[in-house]
Amino acid sequence: MSSGNLTADRRFAYAQMLRKDGDFDAAAEVLTQTLDLAPAWPEGRFALAEVLAEAGRKYDAVAAFESYLELDPADSMGAAVKLALLNPEAPAVLPPAYLSRLFDEYAQRFEKALLEKLNYRAPQILRAALDEVEPGGIFARVFDLGCGTGLAGLALNDRAGWLGGVDLSAAMLKGAADKNIYDQLTVGDMTAALENLDAACDVIIAADVLTYVGDLAPLFAAVRRHLTDGGLFAFTVQRHDGEGFVLGQEHRFSHSRAYVELLALQAAFEILKLDAAVSRQEKGTDVPGLVAVLRAA
Ligand SMILES: C[S@@+](CC[C@H](N)C(=O)[O-])C[C@H]1O[C@@H](n2cnc3c(N)ncnc32)[C@H](O)[C@@H]1O
Repeated sequence: MSSGNLTADRRFAYAQMLRKDGDFDAAAEVLTQTLDLAPAWPEGRFALAEVLAEAGRKYDAVAAFESYLELDPADSMGAAVKLALLNPEAPAVLPPAYLSRLFDEYAQRFEKALLEKLNYRAPQILRAALDEVEPGGIFARVFDLGCGTGLAGLALNDRAGWLGGVDLSAAMLKGAADKNIYDQLTVGDMTAALENLDAACDVIIAADVLTYVGDLAPLFAAVRRHLTDGGLFAFTVQRHDGEGFVLGQEHRFSHSRAYVELLALQAAFEILKLDAAVSRQEKGTDVPGLVAVLRAA
């Protein structure tokens, strides 16, 4: 990550050291000097905003994140998320450019990290849930939302006739393509991809993906429109025990059971299964979650 100005890069590195040592005010000062040398450098402006937040200077941080957004309106570093966390009343939306950059950078390490460190098992949980509600047989058309490197596709492949997938991250999708199990892969947003499907699907899955979406209503409605009558929507969410949904410090949303039930009802789904399930760990601790299978009524 370079500003294109050697002195600015050196100051930036020095600021990062100060930041590591917890001297956030000094780091903010050095970063301000850095930005005098490289005023149009989005990464520098973002780092300044983060340091201001770490220094407890909330209003300065908000202003700095907003000025970062002027340099990078697509928001590939996720300033909107930081702003939402600084002001919990603000609606929380994760910018697509932020998610695709995050997962593009993560793609190479993704499977190793999830399987070996986080004990990731959303694909197996979804497979077991679908086997339970509809044991045996082939689902003619299966669509995998936020398919990533294809772990959920792999878990379901022997029950899928046609298998399609969509993901915001091109690098993650490369992992899915390398598995040679998908009939169609699309780079882009999942709701848009649903609208572009050639035919309705019998099963739509979302394994550990709805954690990147706060308000699930538009997605539930789109899924319902693109399922055959009687088709199944199977997904996992991270659970929280309050109302609605919340954005956590780890930049993932958690949804309440009542919220999932309400949205299922609104989108004309019958709930076949909505149970507690742990899909992954975070810092060595199980993350509470839910597994759901809804039927298009
Ligand atoms: C934690 S990974 C899970 C991947 C895969 N489902 C699996 O089980 O291994 C979440 C994936 O969702 C994708 N994603 C998040 N929001 C998305 C959206 N709105 N549209 C498409 N993909 C999205 C991310 O790019 C990422 O690859």
